Amino acid sequence: MEASSDIQIQSMKVPHLVILPAPFQGHINPMLQLASLLHSKGFSITVIHSQINSPNPANFPNFHFEPMQDVSNDALSYVPDPLTALSILNDKCQTPFHDTLSRLLSDGPHGPVTCIIADELFYFTKAIADQFKLPRILLGTTSASFYTTMAFLSLLQQNGVISITADAQPNTLIPETPLRIKDIPVFSTEGPATSEQIWANILNAIRSSLGYIMNTFDGLELDALVKIRQDRHPTPVFVVGPLYKFLPGTLNSLLTQDYSCMAWLDKQAPQSVIYVSFGSVASIDKTDVEEIAWGLANSEQSFLWVIRPGSIHGHDWVELPEGFEEKTQKRGRIIKWAPQQEVLAHPSVGGFWTHNGWNSTLESICEGVPMLCSPYLWDQNVNARYASHVWRVGIQLENGFDRNEIERAVRRLMVEIEGKEMRERVGALKENAMRGMVKGASSYKSLQSLIDLIMSL
Ligand code: UDX
Repeated sequence: MEASSDIQIQSMKVPHLVILPAPFQGHINPMLQLASLLHSKGFSITVIHSQINSPNPANFPNFHFEPMQDVSNDALSYVPDPLTALSILNDKCQTPFHDTLSRLLSDGPHGPVTCIIADELFYFTKAIADQFKLPRILLGTTSASFYTTMAFLSLLQQNGVISITADAQPNTLIPETPLRIKDIPVFSTEGPATSEQIWANILNAIRSSLGYIMNTFDGLELDALVKIRQDRHPTPVFVVGPLYKFLPGTLNSLLTQDYSCMAWLDKQAPQSVIYVSFGSVASIDKTDVEEIAWGLANSEQSFLWVIRPGSIHGHDWVELPEGFEEKTQKRGRIIKWAPQQEVLAHPSVGGFWTHNGWNSTLESICEGVPMLCSPYLWDQNVNARYASHVWRVGIQLENGFDRNEIERAVRRLMVEIEGKEMRERVGALKENAMRGMVKGASSYKSLQSLIDLIMSL
């Protein structure tokens, strides 16, 4: 594949980018992939980061890292809901980001700052960038389909097209979308800021930015992207995904990835293993673990199952049900954290049971692996619905974790004709992704336009 290696900045001055990731694995990954890609094109990079989930500077010897004195892990562990956590983070990061930036601007070792690239969730950056008269570009870390859902939802509600009330029928289809009422994330907050205010802050921050970068590709989400490009806000949109494919091997993982599973995968038959992982945030009950275990065992299929420490409510770890190990030891493996991109690219992997975080969804598609979908929160319901009903590369589990439904769905995905057809469709989407990265194609050109924009500053 002729990827973007020949895009290079043509200038004597080295532009200096300040990067601000949100402190979550699913946000750190695309942001550091983007930073590494821009560094490979000749940009100098300073990463300003939270004390929570700090990236490891040793993995990025060419970057300059500036930790902020913002908020500790403990401060967020008692927060009642994700949006309140987000609002607290925006609040607490403001002064430390201001002070760090101010210091960088006055005596930073890398010269003047050309531009800030921040996570879209950090809406507080608008006021600070304005204050320092610095251009600000935002990185979106979710799907274009989710963005359009959230951006146009209030419009649909205002116009009476949909009404999401407590008594709304969850399976009712929303006109002009593939979504049902139950696919729309409903957020309530117990903090002082309402969910409407927080969403409005995020959307305003995006619309007032110099540019909005999206980690997706035209060959997957063209309809949503057309809608975004036609939206009346002046922000240019740069669709540069899949980022991780432009520069494979960027080391962003906050947890240690267990590479021993690769040798185990080497011994399995082609497309015979279902990989199971619910990402970095989702947590499940102990009873769910039992249902998953028996669903996998009874499906008679091989599996590689990630059980992330701390992902089971109220337990650091959990004993698996009696008899499970005996039944599955020849064809199952459990690990705490995987090198996911490598696992999905392995020829033995034939399916991915995922929570449909956007990175996982994108990685599955770009490795040509069909999915079982068990969304948990935020954008994941929308991603799962698109995977199962628009791209038709996944089967959504509709009733939580039920061993019989799991057993049936795993078999449908792994050995039945339905799964084979999904594998063919996802293979075509993978091809689209690769084609978009070739010189002159959509993601390649978008990356070039982004670089041109920054160079014009
Ligand atoms: C959440 C949201 O659901 C996501 O959509 C949002 O935009 C970011 O926050 P998360 O739960 O972290 O994300 O899931 P996901 O977006 O899929 O990101 C997880 C990342 O961790 C992926 O890049 C994946 O490759 C990596 N991972 C996951 C591992 O390296 N090892 C694992 O065992 C599991």
